[in-house]
Amino acid sequence: MSEQLKIGLVGAGNWGANYVRNLSSLGVFSAVCDLDENRLAKIKADYPTVRTTTSVDELLEMGLDGCVIATHTQAHYEAGLKLLEAGVHCHIEKPLCESSAQALELCEAAESRNLVLMVGHILLYHPAVEFIRGMIESGELGQVYYISATRCNLGVIRRHENVMWSMAPHDISIVQYLLNDDPVSVSATGQSFVQADEGIEDVTHLTLKFADRSMASITSSWLDPEKVRLIKVVGSEKMVVFDDMDPRYKLQVHEKGVDWQKFVEPGSASFLSIRSGDVHIPFVKPTEPLKAECQEFIDCIQTGRTPRSSGRQGYANVKLIELGCESLKGNGTPLMTGL
Ligand SMILES: NC(=O)c1ccc[n+]([C@@H]2O[C@H](COP(=O)([O-])OP(=O)(O)OC[C@H]3O[C@@H](n4cnc5c(N)ncnc54)[C@H](O)[C@@H]3O)[C@@H](O)[C@H]2O)c1
Repeated sequence: MSEQLKIGLVGAGNWGANYVRNLSSLGVFSAVCDLDENRLAKIKADYPTVRTTTSVDELLEMGLDGCVIATHTQAHYEAGLKLLEAGVHCHIEKPLCESSAQALELCEAAESRNLVLMVGHILLYHPAVEFIRGMIESGELGQVYYISATRCNLGVIRRHENVMWSMAPHDISIVQYLLNDDPVSVSATGQSFVQADEGIEDVTHLTLKFADRSMASITSSWLDPEKVRLIKVVGSEKMVVFDDMDPRYKLQVHEKGVDWQKFVEPGSASFLSIRSGDVHIPFVKPTEPLKAECQEFIDCIQTGRTPRSSGRQGYANVKLIELGCESLKGNGTPLMTGL
């Protein structure tokens, strides 16, 4: 089925190269647009049947069904709107665009034309995240108290967006997916060191609070000696650690918690008891999340289904970062999300 679809790519840079490989392996890679002629020549050499251009307008003449946009964030909105208005289904990298107003416009452009708008929240296609979601849905973790996420490394330091825009979309998407809800309030702190004059933060701490009192804290840094990709989900019954840097033990389920206990004497006070049990390492079949993400785009075009990482999720994600940045400037003032 997927051979019949023609999918294009706008932006074949560092990350876009992964789309080139995956769209090609799925048999749908039809055309590529990039401002860099050298990049296009290299792709043409590897994939001679793929059409190349430096202009999105020219790409529109190539009869595409869908298109992936993986340029730098600043170019997502203009290219996305142009493609959607021309009736092309769009899959846009994270963050969806630079403002919630632009994100809403993209969503409305897609919805009014019954087109798929998907955003590159790749970790929603990671089998470990799917596994944790299953544990939450089945009640195995109990009530989810909080999620902590840490995403750190040295570089890539972006010049036009701070680290929250660059890295936090992934963790926000995971938190929203796992808790199946949008937060009611946002607050953030952070600091700019390397690009202090430009006020571009290198490290940020974002806190999301939910209506059911659960919360999430998200640390992002591109100024860290170690590459860390760590998510912890703390539930009333069990706790899960997802370490994406650990090649063998990505997931650990801790049978740990704290319970209120009663003394045997009637009328006596309760006390807190620490429960410390086994640690399980569930098997999670290794798959390439980006391939699953590309397959989701294809499936959604073919069936009209809403993608797991929908445009509306992209909108909420952008809105949370926008508010996070506003809170940052106000030294961590909590802001209501209205989501
Ligand atoms: N999902 C992930 O894990 C992940 C990882 C890295 C980057 N990203 C996202 O992917 C996007 C690209 O990041 P990158 O690191 O590959 O950037 P990059 O700078 O390496 O590549 C961007 C490419 O887009 C091209 N380009 C820019 N404007 C264009 C336009 N108007 N028309 C056509 N081509 C244009 C550039 O020539 C360049 O080749 C960003 O949105 C980034 O946030 C996602």
